Amino acid sequence: MAKTSVSTLAKMKREGTKITALTAYDASFAKLFYDNGVDVILVGDSLGMVLQGGEDTLAVTVDDIAYHTRCVRAGSKALFVIADMPFMSYSDPQSACENAAKLMRSGANMVKLEGGEWLYDSIEKLTQQGIPVCGHLGLTPQSVHVFGGFKIQGREEAQAQKMIDDAQALERAGAQMIVIECVPSTLAKRITDAVSIPVIGIGAGKETDGQILVMHDLVGISAGYIPKFSKNFLLETGNMVDAVKKFCTDVKSGDFPAAEHEFN
Ligand code: KIV
Repeated sequence: MAKTSVSTLAKMKREGTKITALTAYDASFAKLFYDNGVDVILVGDSLGMVLQGGEDTLAVTVDDIAYHTRCVRAGSKALFVIADMPFMSYSDPQSACENAAKLMRSGANMVKLEGGEWLYDSIEKLTQQGIPVCGHLGLTPQSVHVFGGFKIQGREEAQAQKMIDDAQALERAGAQMIVIECVPSTLAKRITDAVSIPVIGIGAGKETDGQILVMHDLVGISAGYIPKFSKNFLLETGNMVDAVKKFCTDVKSGDFPAAEHEFN
């Protein structure tokens, strides 16, 4: 049984203890992350870019995520694992339930879906069937072609307010966590304060309840490109174990992300 659970994550938010999260795609890194203090592992569909070499995440399938979820779960029984639901695998409640079931059977503790209020029925059905859900708002990479590129979201007040409304709708539907990606820090704080479930940020400033990074960004090997919101912890520490430990201590202490990693 995972040591971390939706209850311990909710308690961390209530007590103001920052949550640390990294993506992982295999047993060895998942175990190393867990052993060195990472609270949550995400089997992200970012694997379409960092493992498969794609330009976006759209080619990733449910079978891809199921395979890597099994690999990650093999790293440790104690991990809290979120599995990403890939592009078009949750376009209606029925397919959301069928595909999420495959990921839960592969070892996930929770599934993550990109989108706002339109997911209400799917999230309600998933939670009714015993599947914990994490929402994902802001720069949702599966919608990259709608956005016209990987761009900061929520700069306009109307869009910002819609994102807050979406976060509240996700919570009402039963979601137990939300990831927000690439939004101004002021908006990230408004979203974090507007819901009682944990909000994990990436490129969203330090006011969220926790931080997540793609593991390749943490060690500076994402095709030679480090996003503004990330930091090469390997460069600073010189080895993988210390890089992970430093990420965790810096997130817990509020030292990461710093001002230079934020969007305003
Ligand atoms: O797929 C992924 O790795 C993600 C993170 C960027 C949050 O969704």
